[in-house]
Amino acid sequence: MEVVIVPDATAGGELIAEAIAALLSRKPDALLGVATGSTPLPVYQALAAKVRSGAVDVSRARVCQLDEYVGLPEGHPESYRSVVLREVVEPLGLSESSFMGPDGSAEDIQAACEAYDRALAEAGGVDLQLLGIGTDGHIGFNEPCSSLASRTRIKTLTEQTRIDNARFFDDDIEQVPHHVITQGIGTILESRHPVLLATGEGKADAVARTVEGPVASVVPASALQLHPHATVVVDEAAASGLKLADYFRATYAAKPRWQGL
Ligand code: PGA
Repeated sequence: MEVVIVPDATAGGELIAEAIAALLSRKPDALLGVATGSTPLPVYQALAAKVRSGAVDVSRARVCQLDEYVGLPEGHPESYRSVVLREVVEPLGLSESSFMGPDGSAEDIQAACEAYDRALAEAGGVDLQLLGIGTDGHIGFNEPCSSLASRTRIKTLTEQTRIDNARFFDDDIEQVPHHVITQGIGTILESRHPVLLATGEGKADAVARTVEGPVASVVPASALQLHPHATVVVDEAAASGLKLADYFRATYAAKPRWQGL
């Protein structure tokens, strides 16, 4: 994996926004897989700033969701559809028709999951998939011991993830849904370029296990080691558990600037 250590979350956001801008200049209708949670927000802010300054044209970009809660009422402000519309689609000036996600309120959730995997494939596959990481090592909502070959499906959240996400639900864990739809690990590995961003000390242990531990379903993010072009962008705090941090710094410093991520 390519590991890039940046000073802070803002620098991480800027670096990934630059990678997205470079992708869109090569492929204006690229399909961008976006993640929710707090970590990716600096990416969306940096990208929106580039749109405002005219540095990037996102008019043909397409956006797709990584995961979704099951059972929230339509239009709930914390449904990931609402979050992506608010944090990504609107600030970038994209139309709702350029955005796709799984249907968390479908009668037949299994069919909705299969339909979403098909829709991603029919759209030509995800070009760049932005990922956060859970304190338990999840990517998307693939909780520990998810199959590394999993497809989009329904999952049950761990207690830890519900505690972590209670801050989006008035700090009330009872309001956090138990079930979600998530792109599977196998689905995520089909993206052409998965880019994981992790910031803050709370992620240091999960990052170290992801990057330097064995590939193991108990740390779902470690499956990214199987991808030929996965990038992990971490701030100093999230990098603090990496034994090979100096090697990663030297490797990235020696990389030709034109190459991007
Ligand atoms: P966070 O969530 O960015 O809000 O920490 C990350 C995740 O759960 O994937």
